[in-house]
Amino acid sequence: MGKDTLTVTDNRTGKSYEIPISYGTYPTYGAAIKAADLKQIKVSDDDFGLMSYDPSFGNTASCRSTITHIDGERGILRYRGYPIEQLAEQSTYLETGYLILHGELPTRSQLDAWMWEITHHTMIHESIKKFLDGFHYDAHPMGMLIGTVGALSTFYPEAKDIHDPAVRRKQVIRLMAKMPTLAAFAYRHSRGLPYAYPDNDLSYTGNLLNMLFKTTELKYAPNPVLERALDVLFILHADHEQNCSTNAMRGIGSSHADPYSALAGAAAALYGPLHGGANEQVLRMLNEIGSKDRVPAYIERVKKGEVLLMGFGHRVYKNYDPRAQIIKQVADEVFEVTGVNPLLEIALELERIALQDDYFVSRRLYPNVDFYSGIIYQAMGFPVEMFPVLFAIPRTSGWLAQWEEMLEDKEQRISRPRQVYAGPDRRDYVPMAAREAGKAA
Ligand code: ACO
Repeated sequence: MGKDTLTVTDNRTGKSYEIPISYGTYPTYGAAIKAADLKQIKVSDDDFGLMSYDPSFGNTASCRSTITHIDGERGILRYRGYPIEQLAEQSTYLETGYLILHGELPTRSQLDAWMWEITHHTMIHESIKKFLDGFHYDAHPMGMLIGTVGALSTFYPEAKDIHDPAVRRKQVIRLMAKMPTLAAFAYRHSRGLPYAYPDNDLSYTGNLLNMLFKTTELKYAPNPVLERALDVLFILHADHEQNCSTNAMRGIGSSHADPYSALAGAAAALYGPLHGGANEQVLRMLNEIGSKDRVPAYIERVKKGEVLLMGFGHRVYKNYDPRAQIIKQVADEVFEVTGVNPLLEIALELERIALQDDYFVSRRLYPNVDFYSGIIYQAMGFPVEMFPVLFAIPRTSGWLAQWEEMLEDKEQRISRPRQVYAGPDRRDYVPMAAREAGKAA
């Protein structure tokens, strides 16, 4: 192999520049030049210098990260080096969250302490209930979650001290612990049900099911199969490197906003139908299709560009999303308890037809994590509005890990992209009278 540099010749000036190339763990894990190194390429001294133009960050690395590795060509996802398949099979969400946030799997005592702390911070201030009461009866739970998690910032003003690792850790525990409570309370509000308080005897997902579904029983007993299925789904959703919402978390956090405000922004980004809102849209799409025999007609509409096949396609995966593979197995276990969701038949038919149709094959569109997760959530008794909320809870660990990594990274400053200005050149202000006269002429 030759030198780790790139030689660029600017044909405007005939000058050549040698720019260093840096790598991730291995050259195949990411090779990049610094965009700032392009700045030296100028046609004159007063020229700003060359930029790279990359709308939507299609080919721009915004950071060096040690958290999550995705190989979209080969369908690989690893947290801190551990394959997602092994974590889904052998870990729990809280252990995986610890791994994502700390970089290493915990020892028994570290895990016990971590679980104890999170379990004992699940309560939220009673005033949050008053905020929730202010929401309309049919308010979307994701909107309520975004609003209330942002409001937590006002309860913990010390969280602004983002440079103190001990302060940061406290907020990490609080957010991990309180997101399920906020989510469950939002759901109970939308159903007109009394709020159910956390039960410290239960696991993370067992307690979430308790806060969501407890009615008159003195002690809620979650179904262990559903509790574990939810835990696996949470592991799969814990982090996904520099996606839209994580980029929002890092972007907001880069201004040194407190983590509650930054996380509210990240959750807002997740809400969109092209991101974490897609699982909700998948269910709406499957309902609209209605039956297996109507699948070919829907596929035709997709190919004509009238609609998107929701739950298909991904910016990074150009192969089967490994999370979708695992989810299909989880679905079988859940359906043994709940009975098969009739929408599954339609989803399987959509996948079967799409995977052999040239439109999808040529564009390398495969099912993503959202294609099957909604069907499972619905079978477990969640209304569709809760789907993005069920995404936001586990993604909290990823958002927080990425936020802390950004804060500790000496190369990171306030996030501030450049632009290529293409608007009008300098012109003089036209007084209103002259504008009106011009219109009349
Ligand atoms: N249905 C139909 N066509 C699609 C789909 C789809 N779901 N996704 C992409 N395409 C087509 C595009 O129209 C485009 O076709 P063209 O080359 O003829 O113009 C081509 O495939 C490439 O797609 P892009 O939109 O350029 O891909 P991009 O990386 O920008 O978008 C995205 C990725 C947003 C996920 C897109 O695939 C999509 O909208 N999917 C549906 C929504 C969805 O499932 N989102 C969840 C993503 S996973 C997550 O966030 C957890």
